This record gives sequence, C-alpha cells and structure tokens, in this order.
Amino acid sequence: MLRPSEARDRPTFIELLASPEVHTYLGGPRPRDELERAVPEIPGRQPGLFVIDFDGAVIGMVKLDRHDAESPGHVRPDIGEAELGYLFLPEAWGHGYAAEACAAALDWFAEALPGESVVLRTQTANERSMRLAAKLGFTEVERYEAYGAEQWFGVWSSSATPSG
Ligand SMILES: CC(C)(COP(=O)(O)OP(=O)(O)OC[C@H]1O[C@@H](n2cnc3c(N)ncnc32)[C@H](O)[C@@H]1OP(=O)(O)O)[C@@H](O)C(=O)NCCC(=O)NCCS
Repeated sequence: MLRPSEARDRPTFIELLASPEVHTYLGGPRPRDELERAVPEIPGRQPGLFVIDFDGAVIGMVKLDRHDAESPGHVRPDIGEAELGYLFLPEAWGHGYAAEACAAALDWFAEALPGESVVLRTQTANERSMRLAAKLGFTEVERYEAYGAEQWFGVWSSSATPSG
C-alpha cells in the first residue's frame, strides 16, 4: 500500500538514509547519530512522497517531486522536471515490490497531471535501478558524467507506456 508518511515511520526513514547498501550509488549514507537529530518527527511529509506499507511494515519509499533548477544536478527544462526517486530496504529487494510501487505512483501522477513527463536520474552502475527504470518504461535521453560516475537520464510519459 502506498500512503503518506507518519511519525511511526521515522525509524524506517533513518534506516533507509543510514544504510550503506541503499546508498552505494547515492553518494554514501549519512551518519546515524546525525540522522537521529535531523530527521523530523514526521519525516517525508511532502506532496508526491509515498511510503510503501507491506502488511503494516514500511519497506521503502517512492517520491515524485520537482527538481529545483537552482540545485546542482542535470536539468532539462525542455522535458519537464517532475522526477521519480525510490529507496527500498535491502531485505525487500528482488521481489518486484519497487516495480509495483513505482508503477502505482506513476499511474497516480498520470491521472493528476495528464500528459506530463517524468524524468529519472540514476548511476549506470546501479544495475537494479537501471533494470527498474527500463521495466517502468523510462527511455534513455542521455548519459553524462557527474559525481565521478556515469549517470543515466531517462524520461517517461504516460502516453508512451502500455498501461497508459
Ligand atoms: C533500485 C531498487 C528500488 C530496485 O529494487 P528491486 O527489488 O531490485 O526492484 P524490483 O521491484 O523491480 O524487483 C526486481 C526483482 O524482483 C524479482 N521478482 C521476484 N518476484 C517477482 C514478482 N512476483 N514480480 C516481479 N518481480 C519479481 C525480479 O526477478 C527482479 O530480480 P532481479 O533484479 O534479480 O532480476 C533497490 O535496489 C533500491 O532501493 N536501491 C537503493 C536505492 C537506489 O539506488 N535508488 C535509486 C535512486 S535513482
């Protein structure tokens, strides 16, 4: 189930942000003690952010938000900057949960903002993420170097996917 975050999800947010495995291709994890101080009482309260609740246990989160043109990163205003992001706990990998959750979030987005594209950035070395992007129907726009690694920049449009 996709739902907004609640106070009881705070330990899982900290786990997701402190996990070295989750952050292998995301610039490394943040120190747990710093997160304990910095993560708000109700973390992840923002439009387009869903936690994935599996029978009462949160296993990850999916986020659709606007890439701030002022922030560092690769920007293609001609494509539009609604961006998909996803983080799942390693024990939840390899079951198709991320694919199911991201597809549901994209369906929600397509209904809320018909015709708008969604972009995705991921390191090409992040094989699981690359497979997920392809499965969701993202197509490659370009590859570029940033943060000392090759990055993949893809775009998704509701009209171009079979589930439409
Ligand atoms: C990227 C990430 C979400 C991918 O998770 P994932 O579980 O591999 O992705 P999926 O939900 O698509 O699951 C795919 C796997 O489930 C398997 N699977 C098992 N049962 C399945 C089922 N019933 N239906 C579909 N797939 C199933 C597939 O065979 C596939 O396995 P494979 O990758 O070994 O071939 C996860 O690795 C992650 O959170 N990484 C850290 C965060 C990160 O790097 N995010 C990228 C930000 S851009």
